[in-house]
Amino acid sequence: MQDNTCRMHDNTSRPAVRASLHADHRELDSLLQRLMFAFKTNAGDEIDRLWGEFESRLLAHMEAEEKYLVPCLRRSHPGEIERLLEEHGLLRKKLLEFGTQLELHLTRLEIMRSLASALHAHASHEDRLYEWADSELAGKERSSLFSAIAHRTLSLVHR
Ligand SMILES: [Fe+2]
Ligand SMILES: [Fe+2]
Repeated sequence: MQDNTCRMHDNTSRPAVRASLHADHRELDSLLQRLMFAFKTNAGDEIDRLWGEFESRLLAHMEAEEKYLVPCLRRSHPGEIERLLEEHGLLRKKLLEFGTQLELHLTRLEIMRSLASALHAHASHEDRLYEWADSELAGKERSSLFSAIAHRTLSLVHR
């Protein structure tokens, strides 16, 4: 059966997936930089707050990609999708490792640096997928993807 969400679409008038997800990457990176600064300056409460925000937003970003991009692009770009899922697995492992260290007061700057570099590498690998998503993702999935990310952002702003 033909999957209606994955045909080529005339998306010229629709908001761009690539621009929106890149903007979310930049915000995640900025949160991580602030977290590293808070850690270096020993700002305890700020570390907990920034960590909570960074973790929820990164998890929401990855979940949105897995829910709306992966099903659409899996058939046309299987290798790239496999790499995306492997890297998400690695990032979740690093989040867990960092969260555990934080709870045990054993946090090391090294794990934050390693998280930052894994995040940068992953973001650059996703660039091509976002371009494909811009031509292949249908309007309904596109809107759901944007609201999954925006909803997360709004709930954090109003917390
Ligand atoms: Fe991702
Ligand atoms: Fe991403």
